[in-house]
Amino acid sequence: MAKYNRSMATAAKPKDPKDKDVERQMEALRDEIRRHEHLYYVLDAPELSDADFDRLMQDLKRLEDEHPQLITADSPTQRVGGKPREGFVKVEHSRPMLSLDNAYNEQELRDWDRRARELAGPAKLEYVCEFKLDGMSLALTYREGKLQTGVTRGDGSVGEDVTTNVRTMRTVPLSVSADALKKAGIPPDFEVRGEVIMPLAAFARMNEERERQNLSRFANPRNAAAGTIRVLEPNIVAQRRLDLYAYFLLVDGKYYPELHSDALHALSQAGFRVNSHYALVSSIDQVLEFIGKSEQMREKLPYEIDGVVVKVNSVRTRDRLGFTGKAPRWAIAYKYAARSGVTQIEDIRVQVGRTGKLTPVAVLKPVPIGGTKVSRATLHNMDEIGRLGVKIGDWVMVERGGDVIPKVVKAVEDKDHPCGYKEFHMPEHCPVCNSKIRHSEGEVDYWCVNLNCPARLQGSILHFASRSVMNIEGLGESLVNQLHQNGLIKDVADIYILKDKRSQLLALERVGEKSVDNLLAEIENSRKLPLERVILGLGIGQVGARTAELLAEHFGSMDDLMGAPAEELQEIHDVGPSVSASIREFFEEPRNRELVKRLGKFLNFKGTKKVRGTTLAGKTFVITGTLANYSRDAAKKLIEDAGGKVSGSVSKKTDYVVAGDDPGSKLDKAKELGVKVIGEKEMEELLRPGPRLD
Ligand code: IVH
Repeated sequence: MAKYNRSMATAAKPKDPKDKDVERQMEALRDEIRRHEHLYYVLDAPELSDADFDRLMQDLKRLEDEHPQLITADSPTQRVGGKPREGFVKVEHSRPMLSLDNAYNEQELRDWDRRARELAGPAKLEYVCEFKLDGMSLALTYREGKLQTGVTRGDGSVGEDVTTNVRTMRTVPLSVSADALKKAGIPPDFEVRGEVIMPLAAFARMNEERERQNLSRFANPRNAAAGTIRVLEPNIVAQRRLDLYAYFLLVDGKYYPELHSDALHALSQAGFRVNSHYALVSSIDQVLEFIGKSEQMREKLPYEIDGVVVKVNSVRTRDRLGFTGKAPRWAIAYKYAARSGVTQIEDIRVQVGRTGKLTPVAVLKPVPIGGTKVSRATLHNMDEIGRLGVKIGDWVMVERGGDVIPKVVKAVEDKDHPCGYKEFHMPEHCPVCNSKIRHSEGEVDYWCVNLNCPARLQGSILHFASRSVMNIEGLGESLVNQLHQNGLIKDVADIYILKDKRSQLLALERVGEKSVDNLLAEIENSRKLPLERVILGLGIGQVGARTAELLAEHFGSMDDLMGAPAEELQEIHDVGPSVSASIREFFEEPRNRELVKRLGKFLNFKGTKKVRGTTLAGKTFVITGTLANYSRDAAKKLIEDAGGKVSGSVSKKTDYVVAGDDPGSKLDKAKELGVKVIGEKEMEELLRPGPRLD
């Protein structure tokens, strides 16, 4: 294999696009990128900095843009070439994807072991213990070492084809070289089964973002993973991080090779991510020991597990043990006791968030759950309180999921109610600033509308300073609290005059010279952040990171954004009537305008306006097949820069379908709906500015 060397990419452009040298150079570069992806995503042991890795990717992208005919489906650039889909196709599994019987305690495990030994006969019985990852199982098929399909478990016999989404997952190799397969002892056609999970950090990030956009949070990483893998837009899947841990290898619909421990080794050699915490054991006592250790590790893992799966190691022995109904006798899932506890609600208090939303929080008689004492749990809103039917004094079950905040899941039979039941009502006045609460008929939430409410101010400062916004490390809850109480800060603009208040800062509790220096340096650094972060930092309802970016790109300055009427805001795709109303409402409030004006003295209010043409304004395109002179991305960019929109699926709203070589089913769909189909030349024609007859 030719080794890639960066000077190859910077060398003079080859004249002939079919030049074999370019092809070889591109393949070497792809191999190099695959090696680094594997080091980074699968082995967690990167050799390159992110910037150097990005440079390799850019080299490849540039070469592929210049020679689109040389793009291969398994190129690392093609993870998100994907198009949104209208639905998923159902696919039958080569062999049913079964579920497992559960054991909840030592006795049930010992019973299972005894039965397995009886059925296995005199053969030596070995088990492999693995973590039971809390996600969703998936089957990947490879032909000639190349990824063909990714299918969800579905009902076990028939799942859904989610290949376009699976391709975006960095822990799924798009191809495995013949060399690697040979070394791993795997034939070119094979199937891998495993668990798709969302790491806790990605889960927290995603929920934070959703909250900012006023979307509901995912309850736990499992739901988030299962929901994400079925999202119809592959770009969204690529943004949310999903990982796959492989735990089965199948050839011709049968487990392969004879020993499961060898299968795990082979999978890992072939470049799949295999969870490193597994053990080959030969007695049930060793299984119990593994379970004990896993429970200790559980709290520190960067992903969720909900138990341990024990599997018979030998495929031949598995065949002797067989199945009962839907589950094999040769494996069992030991499930940890749920991370929940039963306790009593001593009080229900109300928390005021930065948007002014009131959230009822249950104050609990402290109860230990999964190693920590829980004394508060969210009740979300009044609807939830009604659904749960809880009152103060009730006994409730509280659960700690992937979310940091525990939640009340149900009311339980009364055990005791010394203080009697007391129904909870939302207060009529804000518990923090005492101003009147707003609640409209039919609306779930209650709001404190006082812009000067200290709780709202503190919440908005914390949002502004958070990592994904202005990234001011050190400006956390307790410091903001102190600053606010001491009158040093009452809104986000005050952050930038803290540098003139050094001595007052030093007078605060637990604040020394060094921490003041660090804080002021962080604040100074934040001033360099681009306009989109500043817009995001304002905390306008329904304006998350992506919308802030589009706004900055469209208007190029805070002043233009501030003055933009709703119609202009809605010219941006992604900004609908509700988002534009929220933006207008924000800027029409005099106090907000005043705040923005003050911020303007310190922050970047100018961005780079991305000038989009208007030639194709209002026109929607769909691209299908391979174009001769443009990659898909390049064509998409040209259309978007001319003001058009590129969609992934053909509908009645599509104006043009651009068809290249080998067009897919979209062409049929276009014909069926009577949508105009054009070629590359006609697309170029449309891109040319000037009057035109449609
Ligand atoms: S083996 C017939 N191994 O748990 C074999 N499953 O309760 C079934 N799971 O549907 C799968 N980690 O989604 C296996 N190491 C692991 C697992 C695992 C998590 C999930 C999987 C399965 C469910 C069964």
